[in-house]
This record gives sequence, structure tokens and C-alpha cells, in this order.
Amino acid sequence: MKVVEQIKGPIHDEMELFEKKFYESMSSKVALLNRITHYIVNRKGKQMRPMFVFLVAKMVSGGKVNMRTYRGASVIELIHTATLVHDDVVDDSNRRRGFFSINALWKNKIAVLVGDYLLSKGLLLSIDNDDFDLLKIISVAVREMSEGELLQIEKARKLDITESVYYEIIRQKTATLIAACCSLGACSVSPDSEEVEKMRKFGELIGMAFQIKDDLFDYTDGPIGKPTGIDLKEQKMTLPLIHVLNTVAEKDRRWLINSVKNHNKSKKRINEVIAFVKSNGGLDYAEKQMHKFQAEAMEILCQYPPSPYRDSLEMMVNYVIERKK
Ligand code: IPE
Ligand code: IPE
Ligand code: MG
Ligand code: MG
Repeated sequence: MKVVEQIKGPIHDEMELFEKKFYESMSSKVALLNRITHYIVNRKGKQMRPMFVFLVAKMVSGGKVNMRTYRGASVIELIHTATLVHDDVVDDSNRRRGFFSINALWKNKIAVLVGDYLLSKGLLLSIDNDDFDLLKIISVAVREMSEGELLQIEKARKLDITESVYYEIIRQKTATLIAACCSLGACSVSPDSEEVEKMRKFGELIGMAFQIKDDLFDYTDGPIGKPTGIDLKEQKMTLPLIHVLNTVAEKDRRWLINSVKNHNKSKKRINEVIAFVKSNGGLDYAEKQMHKFQAEAMEILCQYPPSPYRDSLEMMVNYVIERKK
């Protein structure tokens, strides 16, 4: 059995019902919008975020979920989808989940508006059902994701990113949403409990490992369903390069910075940078750091009594860093 099927074992029914509800939550009276949301749901992603929501809810409650859990999972996946639609505009990327991105097919104008629509549908799903505690968790994540994306752009312009700023960027742009999945899962079944904060921390640690893995993908040649090698083209410096910049001789450092600053559109030069980063241990270092975050997340899980939900979450933690896309 594939590992993802194994992970989904204890939440199989929930994920099926979720998919139905998720699709319904996107509907609109505007035909163009419906066509686009249809396109989106037919090319679904890994759905890791709703899986976290359900698994955490069930682990914390001993196997129970409720309507708040379902709505929370939908809100998170709506917001995640909205940010991907916007992210592909920001990153000028033409592929997503193995197909053309929304901006590639319908242009930036429409992609921006579709992203806004999905975001508002997500927030309204909470508001219309008085899930204000969940809405608070989600809104913090939305604010942080925007700040993280902008901090990343600021650093791409100045090219003065340090390792700790890198962690701050990925914490904001990616880890907070996964943290929100886990705290929301706990909050949906057990509001005001200490599990909410514990699970937030758990999700944040996994989210850090998750984004380091995503940044490592950019140094490979796929196939992962989206372009690789585009971070440097966008002057985005991630952990492998940051580490190498901190360890090599000054003349190599200047060559690297100059490559990213002035030759980032040259495929040949970018490939040389990638090769340099690889041969100077950049990927190894990033992997090492990724494993540290993973181990810290595991430590939190170990505080819970064994259950099929905990087993699945353990597999999830491993899947985050072993996945092929
Ligand atoms: C992609 O997230 C965006 C990042 C935070 C790196 P996923 O890899 O979970 O995207 P899908 O939903 O499976 O396509
Ligand atoms: C992740 O950013 C998307 C958000 C958190 C908004 P990236 O730009 O690194 O992700 P991919 O690689 O395009 O999915
Ligand atoms: Mg991006
Ligand atoms: Mg991107």
C-alpha cells in the first residue's frame, strides 16, 4: 500500500466527505469563476493540510471529529489554494500540480481576483458558522503568510539574507499555516485546552521541515509538478545557498552574489551556481537542518499515548521529508 493511503487509513471517511464539502464551498454564480474553481479541484494537491486537521483532531479527542473540524479543514485548504494561485503570480510560475497554473491560462488579472475570492470564501465559511475561535487561528496565519512573502521579496532585492532571516521567512510563509492546521484541529474538538498550543508548535516544526524540503526540490530536476530552478531566477536565496555563502572564500562568495544579482536569467550561469552549491555541501546542510526540525516535531508526538492517529501523524512527519513531490 502506498504510504499516503496508509496515513489516510484512520481518516478515510472524513477525507471523502471533506472533498465533497470543499468543492461545494467554492461554488459561485459567476460562470467564469465556476469554470476556474472546477479546474482547480480537478487538479487537487496532496491535501496534507486537511489530513493534519483531521488526524490531530482525532488524536486529541480519542477519535471524534465534528462539523467545526470539517469547516476548519475546508477553510485551511481554501486559503492554501488561494495563496498558491497568488504565489504563482508573484513567482511568475507557469506550472502547478503538473498542469498549467491559473495565471498561465487566464493571466494575472484573473488569478489575483480568483485568489481573493477563495480567501474570502474561506473566511466567510468560519464567520457564517460563528467559528470565531477557529477564525482567529486562521487570520493570524493569513497575516503572517503575507508578511513572510513580502519579507522574502525584500531580501531578494537586497540579497542580504542570513540563515536566521531565512527561518523567519519560512516560518511565516509556510509553517504558520501548517501550525494553524494542527492547532485548529485540536481547537475544533477541545477548545481552550493546552493541546491547542502544543499542536500549534508541532505543526510549526513540521512546517519548517516541509519548506526546507520544498526548497531542496528547487535544486533537483523534478518531476515534481511545478518548475524547478526558479528560485534563483527570482533571486530567492534559500538555505543551501545561504549556507554555502557563509562557508566559502570571499572570492567565491562574490561570484555567487554577482551571479544571482546580475546573471539570474542566464540558464547556464544558474546551473553553474546550482552545481557549486551542491559540491560545497549546501544540500547536505539543508537536509541536516530539516532533520532537526523533524526530530523536534517527533518529540512532541511522543508525549501522546499510542493510537492509530498518532501512528499516522508519525508517518506524516516522515512523509514531509521523504516525499517525491
Ligand atoms: C506548496 O504546498 C506550497 C508550499 C508551502 C511549499 P504543497 O506542496 O502542500 O502543495 P499541494 O497542495 O500539494 O499542491
Ligand atoms: C510557498 O512558497 C507558497 C506560500 C507559502 C505562499 P514557494 O513559492 O516557495 O512555493 P512553491 O514552490 O511555488 O509551491
Ligand atoms: Mg513563492
Ligand atoms: Mg512559488
